[in-house]
Amino acid sequence: MMIIREFVPDDLKRVYEIENMSFEQSYGINMFKQLYDIGTGFLVAEEDDYVIGYIIFWIKYERQGHIISLAVDKNYRRLKAGTRLLSKAIQILMMFEIDSINLEVNENNIGAFEFYKNFNFKIDRVVPGYYDNKDGAIVMYLAL
Ligand SMILES: CC(C)(COP(=O)(O)OP(=O)(O)OC[C@H]1O[C@@H](n2cnc3c(N)ncnc32)[C@H](O)[C@@H]1OP(=O)(O)O)[C@@H](O)C(=O)NCCC(=O)NCCS
Repeated sequence: MMIIREFVPDDLKRVYEIENMSFEQSYGINMFKQLYDIGTGFLVAEEDDYVIGYIIFWIKYERQGHIISLAVDKNYRRLKAGTRLLSKAIQILMMFEIDSINLEVNENNIGAFEFYKNFNFKIDRVVPGYYDNKDGAIVMYLAL
């Protein structure tokens, strides 16, 4: 059975593994710990006591939420863990009276782009050369 729960420091290793298999550019384990320490929203998806995905989010500006990172273990994708993580994050952010949520997605990451489109995220703009490898980012937003 899949559950969504708050991140705890014991999850760090698994979250880092999932990030590593999911992105070329890594935040790194220390950044995850710092994000947790400063109190960003941090949830994990767990399937039978095994962490299979995570989401990190915060309120970037007054009334604007931001998805910092979201990833699901390759072996557990298309099972709605991403949907459940993002839905819960949106639900929590909405308690803080925000108007919109935004995020950056690599312009070559068609899967994630489709995933966010399903949530009604729209394209705001493209930022050329946003990532270390010079890939561009699509900035997407969800009006609430
Ligand atoms: C994007 C990601 C988080 C989606 O997580 P997930 O748990 O596999 O997604 P879900 O099962 O909730 O998918 C919901 C819907 O989104 C769409 N979707 C998800 N992945 C997709 C893909 N690779 N290609 C096309 N559509 C996709 C589908 O419509 C899917 O519904 P369906 O499976 O019934 O067709 C996951 O693919 C991932 O970790 N990718 C690598 C990291 C990443 O890109 N993170 C986001 C960058 S900001």
